[in-house]
Amino acid sequence: MSDLLHAAIIMDGNGRWARERGLPRIAGHHEGASAVRRVIEAAPDFGIGTLTLYAFSEDNWTRPEREVSALMKLLGRYLVQETKRCMETGVRLQAIGRRDRLPAPLVSLLEESERKTAAGTRLHLRLALDYSSRSAILDAARRLSASATEESFSKLLGPDVDLLIRTSGEQRLSDFLLWECAYAELVFTPRMWPSFTREDLAACVEEFYRRERRFGGIRPVEDVLRSA
Ligand code: FPP
Repeated sequence: MSDLLHAAIIMDGNGRWARERGLPRIAGHHEGASAVRRVIEAAPDFGIGTLTLYAFSEDNWTRPEREVSALMKLLGRYLVQETKRCMETGVRLQAIGRRDRLPAPLVSLLEESERKTAAGTRLHLRLALDYSSRSAILDAARRLSASATEESFSKLLGPDVDLLIRTSGEQRLSDFLLWECAYAELVFTPRMWPSFTREDLAACVEEFYRRERRFGGIRPVEDVLRSA
């Protein structure tokens, strides 16, 4: 098993970041894309091997048409601008979630990006788009039915999350990686996503290493005796 962490982030607070500055919500999403660049660059330095970012949930389709279409454009532009950099820096990009409802040009860009970055080994970047964890679990259940095991489920859904970060002070999972977060350490930070920095990521990883992960067991006996 690899020692590299799987960190997952619920990037929350773009709208509030913009409102606090008297800007339209989409300005918060644009600034959020800069925070995405910062975090991708910093993640491997903090021992993160897999990074899953919640970029668009199934529920986000209920937002005003104008915001949804601006977000789709922003995601497309991000892929156009960043794919080359991902190739140069060893980032393998992969989208998770449904693709059949995303705009066709965005799907083409995603597929192109996935193809071009497939050899990357420094960071496995997973972008959750039109994503719902419940839908992903249901889908896996339908595909596996009677032959389902924990291992086969995990294979279809994705690797276990070690560290789940949510920005903006909210303390919910919002249908993100419910199965994969079974043993994840949850770190909630008040920072709005557009203001999230390399130092914030470092602080979350430090917090993760301060926690004692027992996976339902007890602390090793030597440890217990030492502190008795
Ligand atoms: C949540 O903030 C954020 C989103 C629904 C969109 C996330 C998108 C980005 C960070 C930008 C682009 C992403 C990539 C991968 C380039 P919110 O809008 O719910 O904020 P609020 O709760 O303050 O209203």
